[in-house]
Amino acid sequence: MSGEALRGALEQSLAGFDQRAIAAAVRRLGAGYRSGEAGAPRLDDPRSVAAYAAYRMPATYAAVRAVLAQLPELDPAILLDVGGGTGAAAWAAIDICPGLRSVTVTDRSTAALEFGRRLATQAPHEALRLARWERSDASAPIPAADLLTASYVLGELDPHARQGLIETMARSGATVVVVEPGTPEGYRRVLAAREQLLVHGHRVLAPCPHSAACPLADTTDWCHFAVRLDRSALHRRVKSAELGYEDEKFAYVATAPGGQAAAVGRVLRHPQTRKGLVRLTVCQRDEQVAPIAVRRSAASYRAARDARWGDPWPPRDAG
Ligand SMILES: C[S@@+](CC[C@H](N)C(=O)[O-])C[C@H]1O[C@@H](n2cnc3c(N)ncnc32)[C@H](O)[C@@H]1O
Repeated sequence: MSGEALRGALEQSLAGFDQRAIAAAVRRLGAGYRSGEAGAPRLDDPRSVAAYAAYRMPATYAAVRAVLAQLPELDPAILLDVGGGTGAAAWAAIDICPGLRSVTVTDRSTAALEFGRRLATQAPHEALRLARWERSDASAPIPAADLLTASYVLGELDPHARQGLIETMARSGATVVVVEPGTPEGYRRVLAAREQLLVHGHRVLAPCPHSAACPLADTTDWCHFAVRLDRSALHRRVKSAELGYEDEKFAYVATAPGGQAAAVGRVLRHPQTRKGLVRLTVCQRDEQVAPIAVRRSAASYRAARDARWGDPWPPRDAG
């Protein structure tokens, strides 16, 4: 529902901008992001921010929403989104956690915060409309919260700042959600954050079914997931894209002090379905990633046919 709300709000907020200038800024931004880690473009001026909101925000929103949807026990009252930019994670959180009554978004970019603040005035949720948008560096102390999000931020920080931010988040006592692009580098950053959070007494809620070492850590594979999102007409226009959808790949970890894994196993790839047989690749509690073949005769066959990459396995309602 809020995906629609965000799309509508973006259409309206971006209507006042010269669309050609936004499309040009999107091309510059896209080139900046593709050029690599150190080249992350700065969201310093209103046009770059508008381009970010049109080009990336629907995807980062969808990724964070998909992550939070994997945390069925999550019911925070206070959200702090660090490096929140235009507020994608706040829009996602308010969507999944209707009990939120206080939302704060911090970022170093005044232009991003100002865009986010104006965008949020169109939100259907009061807590988001009343959100605080605070200019702050990721290295600053953070106010108390139940849920801390850092989405697509770690890659913009140097290793020292990254560690500092995770340490601050780990010590806060809150549930911590870190989301990064679903690239090998994004996964490595998530893995390092995971290790650091565990050292501080956190336990993994998702995606891992355990808090032991990641079985993919010493392989050439990397743990990541994908979410498909519809592209609005605006989204297609600014990206000069034909397809009506895109797949956003992301890596993530959600942890809490003394938390418990939300799943017994996690589907790590698109399931392979052939006549009467579903093959799942599942990360399991015994710290192994193992193939599971579910035949038509099995009681879990229907659930296996419905299983998607990133889902818990067995499904939560399997009893
Ligand atoms: C790729 S954007 C992600 C924005 C938002 N979290 C999202 O998921 O759409 C990265 C954000 O991190 C912010 N950022 C980068 N370095 C920062 C720092 N040292 N302190 C605070 N914010 C920072 C940028 O201004 C930008 O808004």
